[in-house]
Amino acid sequence: MRIDVFTLFPQVFQPYLETSILHRAIKRQLVEINLHNIRDWTTDRHHVTDDVPYGGGGGMIMKPEPIFAAIEGVLGPKPNCPVVLLTPQGRLLDQSTAYELSAQPQLALLSGRYEGVDERVRQHLVSDEISIGDYVLSGGELPSLVLIDAIVRLLPGALGDPKGALDDSHASGLLEYPHYTRPAEFRGWEVPEILSSGDHARVARWRREQALLRTYFRRPDLLDMAELSEEDRKFLEKITQDEAAQDPTADRGD
Ligand code: ADE
Repeated sequence: MRIDVFTLFPQVFQPYLETSILHRAIKRQLVEINLHNIRDWTTDRHHVTDDVPYGGGGGMIMKPEPIFAAIEGVLGPKPNCPVVLLTPQGRLLDQSTAYELSAQPQLALLSGRYEGVDERVRQHLVSDEISIGDYVLSGGELPSLVLIDAIVRLLPGALGDPKGALDDSHASGLLEYPHYTRPAEFRGWEVPEILSSGDHARVARWRREQALLRTYFRRPDLLDMAELSEEDRKFLEKITQDEAAQDPTADRGD
């Protein structure tokens, strides 16, 4: 896969791309990530990339010319890959969007800054708009990194464990079950016994039930979309009928 990132702050990306899973995926050539500074495509003496908004009001708007020049200069006059603008006005990123984009051989990401980009960029250059959540950040750099991370870890070979992404929260439509590692007892808090039982079927069932419980109490909205077996449904019915049921995974008692 190839990802071209267009930004005014390429230096923000470098440290994260040189870390952990992303670094390994790049080294293994599962993904090639090219950073392009939009400012390099300005033609004026002061390398200006923003200007005041027509109609007045505060804030600065990213000018269209350097953005068009950068993207067309790198990808050609008619880019034949999705050109994604990161903006709070885009469709909300979720795990299925990450899967969808990870199947693309090539992507271009445009990180906006200031109050936004000139509308003609959105109308005539961009083919998709993505938001990473209903809040406003100072720019599209972190959102681009979030999107890159969510996509790249899904590429075959990116994770040490080939099935690693399957159990992740949201991968199956449920939140993930709780994890424990050694020691078996820490400050008197013990790891649930079943996890050391060696009974793989019981462990799998326990994990599934914990995932169902966690999702039911924390994100019940997800259950409408999740793929549930007959056994899952029966388990959930039991919880819903139990008036005293509480989120056991929310325990913060000490
Ligand atoms: N740029 C600023 N805020 C953003 C958000 N929430 N998602 C994507 N891009 C953004």
